[in-house]
Amino acid sequence: MKQFKIIIPIILSYLFSPFIHTNTMKHYTIIGNWKMTMYHKKAITFAQNHFAKLHTYCSERLTIGICPSYETISALQKLAQSTNIQIGAQNCSQHYSGAYTSQISAKSLSEIQCNLCIIGHSEVRTYLHETDEIISQKLKQLLLHNITPIICIGESLEEYKQNKIKEKIETQLKYILPIIKKHQNKTIYIAYEPIWAIGTSITPTIQELEDIFSWLRTKCSDIKLLYGGSVNDTNINELKNITNCDGFLIGGASTDFQKLQNIVLSIIEE
Ligand code: PGA
Repeated sequence: MKQFKIIIPIILSYLFSPFIHTNTMKHYTIIGNWKMTMYHKKAITFAQNHFAKLHTYCSERLTIGICPSYETISALQKLAQSTNIQIGAQNCSQHYSGAYTSQISAKSLSEIQCNLCIIGHSEVRTYLHETDEIISQKLKQLLLHNITPIICIGESLEEYKQNKIKEKIETQLKYILPIIKKHQNKTIYIAYEPIWAIGTSITPTIQELEDIFSWLRTKCSDIKLLYGGSVNDTNINELKNITNCDGFLIGGASTDFQKLQNIVLSIIEE
């Protein structure tokens, strides 16, 4: 009898080990940032042709989000209706409401059930002169309206060359971490995107990324950490193994279905 008490749990754990293994497997998130490269009709055609297939890859192991331009959000939401693909925005206003011609409020995004939004992208920081203070206000607006933020951070080439990566990121985090700490029950993404790696086909080395992500993890324990900057269907085989990285923010390669599918397949393969 005593022997059974020992042997039965061992047999049971052996029998159920595949399921136990599945449950503990790493979960990844892939967010496609379609910038202004996917025009309205092109984006719709992509969704009509490929969302059904992409949906089959969404699982406990993988979340897929696509962020088109504002004018295309509603159309893609309809096409994603019976799928698990999330449709997000690429930016929002830092203001609740008011006389801000051309701006889009987080409140409006939430009213159309757009529950995901990128903020702080380096292109917005540069071309629209967005500061860390403004990004912190945008973050508050998103959290107020229960929209999942994807906050982009990262250093310039100059800062990289001067070995000031962590210094730069620390400054950026100083504005957002105090806000994030008040919302610990919510899903929040931070995307580390070295500016010099965006759209250049160049990425940091795996060793550099391991170092940055393990350092980031000590600062952002409950936050999902993404990497962005020239992710493609070749380098994904290495990038997917970065220990503290929970997924990827992908620009160019997410607008090409074959490349996006290859990235997804690489991630979900054993
Ligand atoms: P990329 O863009 O993948 O084309 O480098 C990434 C981003 O800007 O988010």
